[in-house]
Amino acid sequence: MPAEHRLILRNIDQPGYTTDLECYRRHGGYEALKRSLALGTVTGADGTSISAPEHLRQEVTRSGLRGRGGAGFSCGLKWSLVDRKSGKPIYLVCNADESEPGTFKDRQIIHKDPHQLLEGMILACYANDVHLAYIYIRGEFMEGARILNRALREARENGLLGRNILGSGYDLEIHVHRGAGAYICGEETGLLESLEGKRPYPRVKPPYYPAVLGLYLCPTIVNNVETLCAVKHVIELGGAEYAKLGTPNNTGTRIVCVSGHVQRPGYYEIEVGRVTLRELIMSPDLGGGLREGRKLKAIIPGGVSAKVFKAGEKVKLKGRNRDGTEAEVSVDVLDLPYDFTTLTAAGSMSGSGAIIVLDDSTDVVDTLANLSDFFAHESCGQCTPCREGALWMSKVLRRLTHGGGRRVDAEHLLHIADNIPGGRTICAFGEACSWPVQSFVGKFKDEFEARGAKDEAARTAGTPAPATDARLAASPDARPYDG
Ligand SMILES: Cc1cc2nc3c(=O)[nH]c(=O)nc-3n(C[C@H](O)[C@H](O)[C@H](O)COP(=O)(O)O)c2cc1C
Ligand code: SF4
Repeated sequence: MPAEHRLILRNIDQPGYTTDLECYRRHGGYEALKRSLALGTVTGADGTSISAPEHLRQEVTRSGLRGRGGAGFSCGLKWSLVDRKSGKPIYLVCNADESEPGTFKDRQIIHKDPHQLLEGMILACYANDVHLAYIYIRGEFMEGARILNRALREARENGLLGRNILGSGYDLEIHVHRGAGAYICGEETGLLESLEGKRPYPRVKPPYYPAVLGLYLCPTIVNNVETLCAVKHVIELGGAEYAKLGTPNNTGTRIVCVSGHVQRPGYYEIEVGRVTLRELIMSPDLGGGLREGRKLKAIIPGGVSAKVFKAGEKVKLKGRNRDGTEAEVSVDVLDLPYDFTTLTAAGSMSGSGAIIVLDDSTDVVDTLANLSDFFAHESCGQCTPCREGALWMSKVLRRLTHGGGRRVDAEHLLHIADNIPGGRTICAFGEACSWPVQSFVGKFKDEFEARGAKDEAARTAGTPAPATDARLAASPDARPYDG
């Protein structure tokens, strides 16, 4: 079996493939849209006549497609929750914020195949009776925004957007909106606030579920770039055929970003659940293995908010014996198939599909300090546990990386991290900032304690350890613990 199964990436990086409409069309682009707009009424799964949009929604449900933005929520279910009776317009927003560290797939699609995203969006909009849609693109992606705007212009000029698309009577406009440059802008309700021109403060759910009270308090679908591209392939192949790719409940393909201490960092499209973490890291066609002479130390399997796996760690998974009875099996983390269900059952998540590989040259205290600085900087500040907790954890970690640590700091970090998540915050950022601390400190506690103990001993001997990060040596937060 080839390591990769390229569907969304089929044309990307192929010699001579460009972002032009003409090139996209030469490769079969916009054919799925043309066919869908010409469908008229269709005989549904139960034999009754249904409209073409309803048929498209049924196909997406049948495909089992799960969102590729992070949570892995069923796309068909999300669309089915849209309030179609409110009389208000329904909006669709493509989440192109892509700010989860380690994730670099959506930008590749935008830069190298923008019309694929547009076709997926137009199909999703047609399926959901949307007439105005937005692409919310990360603020820093200036080139991506330029490429998208050019593709939108081409689409308008060729009757693929605007009034009466391809003579079907269907009208749709899509605008690009550049983001406000914060990680929290990627959280769907923060994104909608930002799109409305406000600070990206996530909204309280309930009541502000986007499907009911989204953009301008109208029903809204928020989907990731890759999810919307997958919609095009679902329609092209048919839902049932798409569902044959991947594994049950984890269908289709997904793009994973492998980075860190591997020979071949990059983005790879795999069938969900048909490739293990070991293959993703070690296969010559994928991550290409570790650097010469190095051993694996840890893997962050789904963006930096995912809980880290320690090399050699065994996880218990539920399975079935041949006679159908339940069994528990112990699996090395490297042998976990890369899919939503397994990684969640193993105590982490596949999240945004970003796999960060850490070899034995990694100082996990420094690594976690780096991650925690990011989260402390990016908390929007609405909820006290997140605002104070994220900053507190980063201060304790700075202390540990600046010669001011204590042995008990490991316990102290766990205590803070355990008190942020679990329904105490408005959005999932609370979990996102706690999980790395809980897992890094929980699984490498000896290294955190040893660092603190070393600092204590040095202070007692009157020879405090120098900061491991010289750039931060002058930081006022780097002082030794003073009670
Ligand atoms: C803190 C935070 C940041 C997020 N950032 C992104 C992002 O950059 N891109 C994205 O697609 N989803 C992001 N999400 C997930 C979105 O809230 C949302 O679930 C997703 O866009 C839905 O699309 P999907 O169903 O197609 O996956 C983030 C979530 C959280 C809590
Ligand atoms: S959990 Fe954090 S990021 Fe999310 S709303 Fe609360 S303070 Fe803001």
